[in-house]
Order: sequence, then C-alpha cells, then structure tokens
Amino acid sequence: MTVKIAPSILSADFARLGDEVAALDSAGADYIHVDVMDGHFVPNLTIGPAVVKALRPCTRKLLDVHLMIEPVDPYIPAFVEAGSDIVTLHAEATRHLDRSLQLVRSLGCRAGVSLNPATPESVLAYVLDKVDLILVMSVNPGFGGQSFIPACLDKIRRLRDMVAGRPIEIEVDGGVTAANAPAVIAAGADVLVAGSAVFCSADYAANIRALRGKL
Ligand code: DX5
Ligand code: ZN
Repeated sequence: MTVKIAPSILSADFARLGDEVAALDSAGADYIHVDVMDGHFVPNLTIGPAVVKALRPCTRKLLDVHLMIEPVDPYIPAFVEAGSDIVTLHAEATRHLDRSLQLVRSLGCRAGVSLNPATPESVLAYVLDKVDLILVMSVNPGFGGQSFIPACLDKIRRLRDMVAGRPIEIEVDGGVTAANAPAVIAAGADVLVAGSAVFCSADYAANIRALRGKL
C-alpha cells in the first residue's frame, strides 16, 4: 500500500484558499490537512469552523482537521457540522481524552488523537478502541517550516507495534520532506502531512509524488 499524503493548507495562499484546495485535490492529495490554532494551546492563530465549511465544496477528498485548541470539546460539534471527515485533538489539550474521543465519534466523525513530541505514546494505551487515527507531531505545533525532530521515528515504531492489527492510521506531521519521508514511512507511517514540502514550488503534483518516493 502506498503512503497517503495530506498537504497542510497552513502553507497555502490564504487569499485563494478555495482554489488552493481544489489544486491539491487535482494534484493527487489523499487528505486535505487543516491546521486550527487558537493562540493559547499553540502560539499562533489560524482558522475556525466557518473556513472549513467554506472549503467543503472545493474538494471531495477527506478534510483532515487538526485541532490545536484548548479547551477542545466545546468546539468539536461546530467542526463536525462544518464538514470535517476526521477531527484530531491533542491528548495534552483535554483532561478527559476518552470523553473527547467519544464525543467526536458520537457525531459520526472519525476520531484522531495527536501527541506533541514530548508526550509518550503510553497515554493512548486505554483508548485504542476509540481512535481512528494517531497524529504524531514531529515538530512542536504552531508553525509550518520547522525541522523534523528525529526522536519521533522511535515513537512511530512503538506506535506501529502498539496499534497491532487495529484499523488505526498513523499520521506524521511536521518537517516532513521528500528527503526524510522514506525513514518516516519505514518507521510505520500511513499518512504524511506536509506543508512547506508541498507548497515550496508551483508543481504541487510533483511535490506530492516526491513525498511518495515517486519522481
Ligand atoms: C504544525 C502543523 C503542521 C505544519 C506542517 O503545527 O500542525 O501541519 O503546518 O508544516 P510543515 O510541513 O511545513 O512542517
Ligand atoms: Zn497539522
């Protein structure tokens, strides 16, 4: 199975976001990764549910919504109603991870959980049956264009063993490039998020192919 690519629109031209999403769709993106930041959980502000709703008609690909917000539970229904296919929240941003994940699924959405670089994978031990996707942060969240933290490769390998045969995707986010993608895939990633590596030049299709290792 080939790895899935989820371009992050954090690096897109925000003045032309709908066109950018449509371009990623035609360029072969598997998911469209939407980074939601609150200026509190992470030191940056981006977009809210109204933007997700506006982007929904621009693509039939899955909208992979990464919530870097705290508190998170009060905003989950709005992001699901806006058309998110996957809602991923941070284990560090909820006191009741099990409850937050149940809330996402109860609304008919796939539930993802994300771990910051310093958070051990053991926090997921008792929620594996409530998770559809695990998002391994390979940078400290908040900004695009940072460098990949190599220690995350070990975490990806441990998570691969931990999920065993369960239907859970492992997604890796932050500093992923065509150069380090083979190591990330070998460690066990199913989905690569990439912002700068997709938007670094105008040929998004070529940049996506390069991340898959197909030139
Ligand atoms: C970081 C975001 C990432 C980021 C990826 O907080 O969650 O999705 O935008 O961008 P690059 O690929 O440039 O690290
Ligand atoms: Zn992200």
